[in-house]
Formats: sequence, structure tokens, C-alpha cells
Amino acid sequence: MIDTQIDYLTQEALRTSGVYGKRDQVIIRGKGAYLWDDRGRRYIDLTAGIGVANLGHAHPRLVAAITQQASTLITCPELFYNDRRAELLGSLAGVLPEGLERVFLCNSGTEAVEAALKFARLSTGRTDVVAAMRGFHGRTFGALSATHKNAYREPFLPLVPGFTHVPFNNFERLAAALTQNTAAVILEVVQGEGGVRPGSREYFQAVRQICEQRNILLILDEVQTGFGRTGRWFAFEHMGIVPDILALGKGIAGGVPMGATVLGPRVRELPVGVHGSTFGGNPLAAAAAIASIEIYKSERLVEQAAEQGAWFLDRLSRIESPHIREVRGLGLMVGVELRSRVFPVVEALTELGVLALIAGPTVLRLLPPLVIDRSDLAAAADLLEQALTVLDGEENTDG
Ligand SMILES: Cc1ncc(COP(=O)(O)O)c(C=O)c1O
Repeated sequence: MIDTQIDYLTQEALRTSGVYGKRDQVIIRGKGAYLWDDRGRRYIDLTAGIGVANLGHAHPRLVAAITQQASTLITCPELFYNDRRAELLGSLAGVLPEGLERVFLCNSGTEAVEAALKFARLSTGRTDVVAAMRGFHGRTFGALSATHKNAYREPFLPLVPGFTHVPFNNFERLAAALTQNTAAVILEVVQGEGGVRPGSREYFQAVRQICEQRNILLILDEVQTGFGRTGRWFAFEHMGIVPDILALGKGIAGGVPMGATVLGPRVRELPVGVHGSTFGGNPLAAAAAIASIEIYKSERLVEQAAEQGAWFLDRLSRIESPHIREVRGLGLMVGVELRSRVFPVVEALTELGVLALIAGPTVLRLLPPLVIDRSDLAAAADLLEQALTVLDGEENTDG
């Protein structure tokens, strides 16, 4: 078995693009909140494919829907109408607030953001965008221009002009950055990659209000926070606001690639031919998304995320470790900020059978499938306590 693993690793390492820093596990199978590697080792999955597998892995109803659709019709561009696509648009409307109805379907989060930015320009006739420091919106040129992290941006300069970054959750700084030429403000409700940082209700309400006063569109990027992750269908519900444009991805179709840009009434009608995607709205992904939305509802996964998330956050907050600076999050989107580098803890956790993510150099990011059992969350928390001891003797910084 070990030889097989080395073979996969070597083959992939030889021929991959090189842009990913990969861990050594060869993951070949999943079920619910568990993943298995090619040695037959089982892991509790707190990554969910980076916040994608909200329904867990290999959910039988999702598998059945995909299988059924694959044998019926996989592809059908938006040259034509399609039964599954029509049904999906209805399902989405059923879980979104009234008014958020027109949808551009695409294939990833970055494409959903890209479309949001283009539609904001078209609708307002202005060019500029205000985004947040520590914000992450994707890797294509428009989305990357909204993304803050210098390491992602710098190799690709010059980016799209007109983007300004202001401190997140600071209304005065955001208001001061708005100009006559601002088309949109783009924000995550809980910054994910930037360290699992929820914004406040007051902040989002003030931003909502000023965007209306100045005829600016508010784009919320809920690629990571959407579809139950934070204990509501969409994280903006915690804030008591509704965006003008909503970017969705990740959990929308249970793991089948899909993105969506949802437009509210303040966005003008879009001219035919102005944007498009060959794969966008394909019946296979649409069938997966319809089934996923049904599963979110019938298994009460949004409520589950709220309940399990509150329990998990409380459990993690009780860990007494000199290495933890703060535990924060919303629903099943949890960050554990450490006083030193997080990667040794991720490695120790992997050894102990738990897969976790990072968000910056010192934050452990935990995004379990929303179907995870309480007993697995409890086991993961116990193992995290154990893994943290790998830092004993490391110098803690308080910066
Ligand atoms: C908030 C947010 N926006 C956009 C993206 C980009 O999505 P994708 O990787 O599907 O292009 C991500 C991905 O992590 C994200 O977290």
C-alpha cells in the first residue's frame, strides 16, 4: 500500500502546475464527515474541501441526483432554456430574500465575483470599487483586484485599476474612501481566508445605508459563508441587511463546481450578450444544486450549523492553552488564533487523524461538513488540545 501512495504522490508532484503547496496525504474517498487516504487511514474532515462539502461526502441523495442527471443531459448552455436550470432558479429564489431573483450562473466563486464586479460597473456607469483589508475574493484579475493579500497580488501587477482597500469593520474609514466614481463596495460578512473575522451588525447596517444614499451597490461575497455555513442560509441574515449583489459558490451544489451571482432590484437590467459562460447553468451542476438545497432543508443543516457551531465554539473556548490567543467564528465557521505559527498544529492534528485548514500564519480555520456529529466535533476538540502541545517550548509572540 505504501508503494501505491508514493506512486500517486510522485506522479502528481511531477506533473502538477506547481502553484499549490500540498500536504502528503493522498485522499481517495469520503463519507459524511470522514475522509480516507490511500493507506486506508480515516480522518475527521474539518476542511470540507475548503468549505464546499457542507452536506458531507458522498451524500446518497446528492449522488443519486447527479447520477440520474448524468444519464439524461450533462451539458446545455444558456443558448437554450433547460428544465433543471429553471427548477434551480426557483429553488434559489425560495431560500433568498424577496427581490434577489435574477441569477447569473457560473462555475466557481471567483467567476461569481468577477460577474458581480462587471455588473456593478454596467449598472452604475462608474468604475471604482472599495474592498476590505484582509478580504479574499478569488484569483482572476477582477476578483484578485478586490483581494487584499499582497502575496497573491504582487506577482500579477498591474491589476484592474480603481480598487481601494480599507480596514474591515471600520465604517468611518470605508465612508471616507467612497467617491463620485465608486460603483460598489465588496465585502465578506465573515472574512474567511483573512482569519475567520466576523463583521459587526452595526457596521453592515451603516454600510448598507451609505450605499443607498450614494447610489453605490453593495456586493456581499458569500462564497464561503453561504449555504448554512454560519448557521443561517446566508450570513447577511445575521446582520439584518440584504445586498444588491450576492456572490455564491462552494456549498451551492454540494461539491459539484458552481458559482452564482444574484442581482437585486437596484441592479439595472443587463444587456443581452454582455457576459456569459459556456458551462454556466449546466444541467448536471443544476441538478446537484437542486438536490443540495433539498438536503439542506430536509436535514435541517442550517439549524444544525447554528447549534453545533455554538457548541463547538464554546468547547474550543474552554481549552486552556497558553498558545491560544482567541477563538472566534459564526456557526460552523471557526477560527482559533494562536500566539505562534499554526502549521505545526495542523501537522500534529493530521497525525492524530483530523484534517484542518489555516487562514494566515497563525489562525487555524475549521470548516466541518454541516452534517458532522457532535461526537466527532468533541473528538476533534480533544485532539486539538493534544495537538497544541506540539507548540510547548515555542516562543509565543503577542504581536
Ligand atoms: C470569500 C471567497 N470568495 C471567493 C472565493 C473564490 O472561490 P473559488 O476558489 O471557487 O474561485 C473564495 C474561495 O476560497 C472565498 O472564500
